[in-house]
Amino acid sequence: MKSLRIFDTPTEVAGAVADRLAEVLAQHPRPVITFPTGSTMLPVYREIVARSQTGQLDLRGVQGIQLDEYAGVDDHTEASFRAWLHEHLLAPTGITAFHTLPAHDPTPAALASYEQVIASYGGVDLAILGIGGNGHIAFNEPGSPADSRTRVVELDRRTRQANERYWTDSDAFVPTRAVTQGIGTILEAREVLLIATGAEKAEILHEALHGPVSEHVPASLIRSHPHAEVLADAAAGRQPSDSSARESDRLSA
Ligand code: F6R
Repeated sequence: MKSLRIFDTPTEVAGAVADRLAEVLAQHPRPVITFPTGSTMLPVYREIVARSQTGQLDLRGVQGIQLDEYAGVDDHTEASFRAWLHEHLLAPTGITAFHTLPAHDPTPAALASYEQVIASYGGVDLAILGIGGNGHIAFNEPGSPADSRTRVVELDRRTRQANERYWTDSDAFVPTRAVTQGIGTILEAREVLLIATGAEKAEILHEALHGPVSEHVPASLIRSHPHAEVLADAAAGRQPSDSSARESDRLSA
């Protein structure tokens, strides 16, 4: 792993992600980027959209890749990750190339073909990730193999509870299964950027960064990646004995 950077606020974290995106875009005209959904990403995408709308960041060449999705959803499912990303990132920034997971009918052939398309793009340049309260990355729940590929998974009870807020229709309920890039798939990206904000992520982030590298805490597995960086706000990045941790601990894998 390359580094951990701790900022005072989620807004500063968002600015750092947008800065990194600007650097990636300066290096590649058509970068391949994996985008997560979730509360952590809202201020990040707000910042990216604001820069795009003021002409500071042109994302129209980005080839977006979907990281995870509920199994069985289709284009009309409002609570789908695809719809969420479309609203918060893709439409307002003009990203039209977006490679989706075969969530509606995730046959083994469709899952393999999803990965083949990524390979045909030349692989992922930047994988942006959040972290779940149980340490998951994408929908790789605790116990997911480090070499796992894109597949159908059962969602953890805690993950379903955390996502209940998106399933507000009276007859809708959080699906029990999802389709996710595997940990092996994610770690093939040339660069990984994990974002964690808020006090509720402090304990699991500390475990992921300082506990054993283990499939029990999937986020800990990014420490084996030479170009992984963690960006956290002070609330998520504090050490248990230090509530005012700040700035750039250099970490080694
Ligand atoms: C969602 C995803 C998840 C989230 C994680 C954190 O696409 O990949 O792993 O990043 O559950 O979610 P929030 O940010 O809502 O706490």
